[in-house]
Amino acid sequence: MKKCIIFYSKTGNTKEVAQKLKGFDLLEIKAESDDPNVQYPVLTDIPDFSNYDYIVFATPVHGFQISKIMKSYLDQVSNFSGKTIDLFITHFFPFAWMGGNGSLRQMKKIIESKQGVVRYMTSVNWKSKKREHIINMMVDAYHE
Ligand SMILES: Cc1cc2nc3c(=O)[nH]c(=O)nc-3n(C[C@H](O)[C@H](O)[C@H](O)COP(=O)(O)O)c2cc1C
Repeated sequence: MKKCIIFYSKTGNTKEVAQKLKGFDLLEIKAESDDPNVQYPVLTDIPDFSNYDYIVFATPVHGFQISKIMKSYLDQVSNFSGKTIDLFITHFFPFAWMGGNGSLRQMKKIIESKQGVVRYMTSVNWKSKKREHIINMMVDAYHE
């Protein structure tokens, strides 16, 4: 089974977590501007997952939502069917309801609206004492 992580990371946290998941190709989404206030970012690197069976989508939370760059990426995909899909987000505020859970729901909704099925979702709180534990559980769970 071919597996990849399609991620956006502005300051490196999401990328650091992605690197801990073993055996995945890391495919980074990039945009002309990294400014989180750009409403409709123009993507310059648009990973193609057609040859992968298993995809993990990962993004930071920006303003209680997924990053605009991940949103633009997911919006330009026409169909997610036939793939195993897991998600994770990284965020900073102390409680999951301060962006983490809502962002995961937001990503799931976009994917489901285009025939995708989401399996696991993980919220990694950067300030939490349990951060490493959560990441380790994810590393154990996220495989085919
Ligand atoms: C513009 C901006 C907005 C953010 N908004 C939130 C937020 O609403 N909730 C939250 O928990 N963290 C928020 N954060 C913190 C990031 O989600 C967190 O630091 C994340 O781990 C960064 O990931 P990255 O290093 O991969 O970019 C925000 C960060 C930035 C730069």
